[in-house]
Amino acid sequence: MADQYDVVIIGGGPGGYNCAIRAGQLGLKTACIEKRETLGGTCLNVGCIPSKALLHASELYEGAKKDFAGYGIEFEALKLNLEQMMAQKDDAVKGLTDGVKFLLKKNKVDHITGTGKIKSKTEVEVTDADGKTQILKTKNIVIATGSEVTPLPGVEIDEERIVSSTGALELKEVPKKLVLVGAGVIGLELGSVWRRLGAEVEVVEFLDHCLPGLDKEVSKAARKLFEKQGLKFHFSRKVTGVEKLKTKLKVSTEAADGGDAQTMDADIVIVCIGRRPYTQGLGLENVGIEPDKRGVIANDHFRTSVDNIWVVGDTTTGPMLAHKAEDEGTACAELIAGKAGHVNYDAIPTVVYTYPEIAGVGATEEQLKEAGRDYKVGKFPFQANSRGRTNHTTDGFVKVLADAKTDEILGAHIIGPNGGELIAELALAMEFKAASEDVARTCHAHPTLSEAVRQAAMAVEGWAMQM
Ligand code: FAD
Ligand code: NAI
Repeated sequence: MADQYDVVIIGGGPGGYNCAIRAGQLGLKTACIEKRETLGGTCLNVGCIPSKALLHASELYEGAKKDFAGYGIEFEALKLNLEQMMAQKDDAVKGLTDGVKFLLKKNKVDHITGTGKIKSKTEVEVTDADGKTQILKTKNIVIATGSEVTPLPGVEIDEERIVSSTGALELKEVPKKLVLVGAGVIGLELGSVWRRLGAEVEVVEFLDHCLPGLDKEVSKAARKLFEKQGLKFHFSRKVTGVEKLKTKLKVSTEAADGGDAQTMDADIVIVCIGRRPYTQGLGLENVGIEPDKRGVIANDHFRTSVDNIWVVGDTTTGPMLAHKAEDEGTACAELIAGKAGHVNYDAIPTVVYTYPEIAGVGATEEQLKEAGRDYKVGKFPFQANSRGRTNHTTDGFVKVLADAKTDEILGAHIIGPNGGELIAELALAMEFKAASEDVARTCHAHPTLSEAVRQAAMAVEGWAMQM
């Protein structure tokens, strides 16, 4: 008879691999099944990591082209080597996916390559690339199968001319004209990459604003800055079809509520209207787990409706973010091991890695209004921050929202240079239930961008040193 596992994890993304590593650390006999050749899931292979590698490289390129002369750095000629830019991206992916493989081994986790299917409460079948199967017996199963691109009815993704984020990370040349369907996180990040490299970018968005879910003041400021960079938005419109002509794509759009049909040409279309949980062929019917109509599997402290079957990451409720999946994977392993695993959903930061970066944690001002909370606001612009001025990165501001009576920080939002790094301080403050005065009275090094965070907290208290 095959060995019995304490836990078998299906999926080797941030949810799955962090769960596996923690389970291994806690002495549980663990297997992690991944159908891709490499570990790391969407995030490491076709998501966070390759997109950030291209965002960084394209920002340097645009900086060299547009800004370096202003710093007194002049070039004779500047040339884009897209092949090398893609190669350095692939290198980052390889280094990190190999790193995860090493960590599983180090923590005595069996990494099994193949597709996992739940056969019963205690059995998972794995089918490898040659069609060979094996059954793993286990006390616990963790579903960490992630998510996939939400399709756009009537528009077929071919990953060459009509692409998802995956194809958009692999384009062989810079498109002359790029159309994005959706002004969400993927659209604005990948749209920024190709715009910086020379593409003309137009964005068709169903809603009347970009980046839904963000604090409205921040998303308005973001829109203005993206427009200044050259992105052209078509708000309150939807794409109804994309016709493939020999050399061009013809994109048909309509007003969001119908009518006013128009067309526009494109060389490449990126469909980025969201992602949905992926549980295809997982055998959920064999154990009676029923996802909701969007495919989301519900959980109670990561436990599904079946006692010993757990779920983490994009497949379950909550934001589809790598660090959320990671924290859930870790906490889930701790619960399986009989320990107290916990995730604080009120302090999960979100970052959009454009320039400037856009970051938030906790409640938006709209959410506080809707909840009827009495709150105070403190804001500070990077224009008045000394490091922002020395670096010539003065776009944006920090905004801190605190309870009017207790001064506890309820939310914080940043649009500005390094916003993705700066938000960590405010997430930590929220985790510790800090008051904005705690941040305001903490000494911050000078001259740093982090002083803008402190000044925004001071502004809540009414004593910011704004010029
Ligand atoms: P996944 O990472 O999707 O991993 C699931 C794994 O399960 C996959 O590898 C899949 O092959 C495997 N699998 C599925 N079914 C089976 C099966 N039956 N048997 C075996 N294996 C199976 N998030 C951030 O926080 N920051 C970012 O900067 C960021 N950038 C992104 C950029 C892009 C372009 C995209 C698409 C996403 C980005 N995300 C980002 C989101 C992030 O990638 C996901 O939230 C995260 O990967 C979710 O982790 P997961 O473990 O739940 O699922
Ligand atoms: P998204 O949910 O961020 O944005 C989708 C956008 O498409 C929304 O603005 C929506 O209103 C719009 N839309 C929906 N249907 C439409 C239609 N028919 N026509 C026009 N617009 C339409 O989804 P996106 O950008 O695809 O990203 C998916 C997820 O991946 C994100 O929600 C996020 O969880 C994750 N991600 C996270 C990143 C990060 O943390 N930096 C980076 C990239 C992705």
